[in-house]
Amino acid sequence: MAKLQFLGHAACYIEGTGLRALVDPFLSGNPSATVGPEDFQQINYIFVTHGHDDHIGDTVEIAGNSGAIVVANADLCRIFQRKGLKTHPMHIGGTFKFPFGMVKMTPALHGSDVQEGDDLLPGGNPGGFLIEVDSRKIYHAGDTGLTMDMQLLRQENIDIALLPSGGNFTMDMADAARAVEMIRPSIAIPVHYNTFDLIKADPEEFVAKASKYAEIRIMNAGDILNF
Ligand code: NI
Ligand code: MN
Repeated sequence: MAKLQFLGHAACYIEGTGLRALVDPFLSGNPSATVGPEDFQQINYIFVTHGHDDHIGDTVEIAGNSGAIVVANADLCRIFQRKGLKTHPMHIGGTFKFPFGMVKMTPALHGSDVQEGDDLLPGGNPGGFLIEVDSRKIYHAGDTGLTMDMQLLRQENIDIALLPSGGNFTMDMADAARAVEMIRPSIAIPVHYNTFDLIKADPEEFVAKASKYAEIRIMNAGDILNF
């Protein structure tokens, strides 16, 4: 049995045997978040899908306080290493067996620049993660447009898929539903919508279009799913 807590926007907490992880921990400045970085002192891994502020979020503070290992693409990891964080660099298509389970980095169609004061640093390829814990598999897509590569994920037998669905920067609800049709997870959760005006979207459209392919869960920040 594993536990997923949605934290708002694209942020989530995943707990299972040997794993207390955050994915894309954008909490400070996240208008939908109900918790802050101070609530996560006991984290052992942080997965960062790409370099944008709304995904790196509080990674540096939380990893600094907790000693968590930051898992991200190798380019982003070099930036985190310079800040003194422990990292585990990966890249698109790579799989590694961590003590808690397998992790695979998946492709995403997006950008990944990192804002550092007035500078922009290149953040490598954006991606997503397949994270296995307690024989359950979670797919966090990161920020991405709809891509045929998602067809490959059907063979992964994914339990939970978190899919960006607010449009403008990523898939909208209709495209996210097409992603569900390709991926066929047991449960699909739309994320990355309604946080800002540019990504306003109605999750009922996702429910209407994707329910025939998976069980759909609409989660509010703070909601927990045991699976
Ligand atoms: Ni982004
Ligand atoms: Mn984003």
